[in-house]
Amino acid sequence: MIRPIILHPDPRLKKPCEAVGDITPELRVLAADMLETMYEAPGIGLAAPQVGVLKRVLVMDCAKDGPPEPMVLINPRVTWASEDLSVYDEGCLSIPDQYAEVKRPARVRVEWTDLDGAAQERDFEGLWATCVQHEIDHLDGKLFIDYLGPLKRQMITRKMEKLKRERARSGG
Ligand code: NI
Repeated sequence: MIRPIILHPDPRLKKPCEAVGDITPELRVLAADMLETMYEAPGIGLAAPQVGVLKRVLVMDCAKDGPPEPMVLINPRVTWASEDLSVYDEGCLSIPDQYAEVKRPARVRVEWTDLDGAAQERDFEGLWATCVQHEIDHLDGKLFIDYLGPLKRQMITRKMEKLKRERARSGG
């Protein structure tokens, strides 16, 4: 089921999320819904708070060519980050049509729990590294615009407030 994506500014996007305990049937439904919502958007990553669930779950698929590579990361944690940085023109499904360059570690090692409850670890690079860091930030109540200067951030937030007013007026 496709879930509505919460748009910035919204207090639910600013809160640190709770760790997931047991892998419940509800959590499996959430993960499946999040993947469906992400692909439909379309996007390459989505974090649970973006659909109003303040739990540490994210989904992503940064595969460019070839078959899809859907990933579900529960309680993800960066355990190592490279010193070398990379810059990417980031966007966010909660901040549609707004993009800005963000500098992050070029490679990261991430540990997480999968939907079978098994511990996983993987090194990410390229777009995958940018995406996983962006999505983990969401779980800590942080958005990519928080890396920008105050003027640029305020400009984007004002545009988003206007967009939300327009959507409210048009009933969607
Ligand atoms: Ni985002």
